[in-house]
Amino acid sequence: MTKDLKGRHFISTQEWSDDEIELLLSTSADLKKKFAAGEPHRLLPDKTLFMMFYEQSTRTRNSFEAGMTQLGGHAHDLTPEKLQVSHGETAEDTARVLSRFGHGISIRNCDWGKGNRFLRSVAGMSTVPVINMQCDLYHPCQAVADLMTIREKFPDGIRGRRMVVSWTYAPSYVRPISVPQSEILLMTRFGLDVTLVHPPEFKLLPEFIAQAKTNAAATGTKFEMMDDMDAAFEGAHIVYPKSWGCLVHEPDREAAVQHIEKYPGWVCNEERMALTDPGSIYMHPLPASRGSEVTDAVIDGPHSVVWDEAENRLHTAKGLMALTM
Ligand code: CP
Repeated sequence: MTKDLKGRHFISTQEWSDDEIELLLSTSADLKKKFAAGEPHRLLPDKTLFMMFYEQSTRTRNSFEAGMTQLGGHAHDLTPEKLQVSHGETAEDTARVLSRFGHGISIRNCDWGKGNRFLRSVAGMSTVPVINMQCDLYHPCQAVADLMTIREKFPDGIRGRRMVVSWTYAPSYVRPISVPQSEILLMTRFGLDVTLVHPPEFKLLPEFIAQAKTNAAATGTKFEMMDDMDAAFEGAHIVYPKSWGCLVHEPDREAAVQHIEKYPGWVCNEERMALTDPGSIYMHPLPASRGSEVTDAVIDGPHSVVWDEAENRLHTAKGLMALTM
């Protein structure tokens, strides 16, 4: 039974039921159709979303801001420097004030060991929904857009199809682990067999691995781990190769970069795509490091669905705001 989602926080997909995720996906698909048809869908007239970005963003920032405009409301584009949090005002006090002014708060804060805690501190005191636009642990908005995309690309059903979430090389850039962690949690719940592949230094947090195994056991899907990218790609239906940092990356960023530099061969290229199922799709949350994570021939090639995937960030952001705000 799906409960009314008005006022609900969205910090991880794991905290929403299957029915609630399904409602989010069907609402997003409906809004996508309306957007394509040019039908007005001003479901949030005069409402305000406060977007707080601790890091840069192209897709998340613009999907939420454009989405809020299309829904008839307005989004404030905030950074810590524009707020008194930069002078030490607490997350809780900020939440109390913004809750009195508007109808939703969304936050990106990937600071290792702090981002998710900051979000939960805001959510604990906020009387309006708090949406996680990516933290150090989760990127739930990316994961739901990815599930929507996968379902669109395999309209005959996704149960039994195999998705590979793979580490890739990206020089000198230590990215969060929140995307792969969110992918393995959500996809094991919704019918995909998931293979996680990475060099030994690039493990995800053990509690997320345990949860992915629990999700797979509960839904009858498979979850496996490997350290051989070629073996993982053999026969895969969906490949999701992206770079992430290793767990030593805070406080020792230099050590993390040294580990990354050991694996320049972990690239998604045409040779590797040839190992996959002929109808396979290539996905990436973007931004992609062309030439190191993926070759131009793959990201611009016939398997790539990255632009549809990026577009679905808009429709799912709108679905999320329409339901919770
Ligand atoms: N995928 C994603 O979250 O992109 P941005 O960092 O540009 O928001």
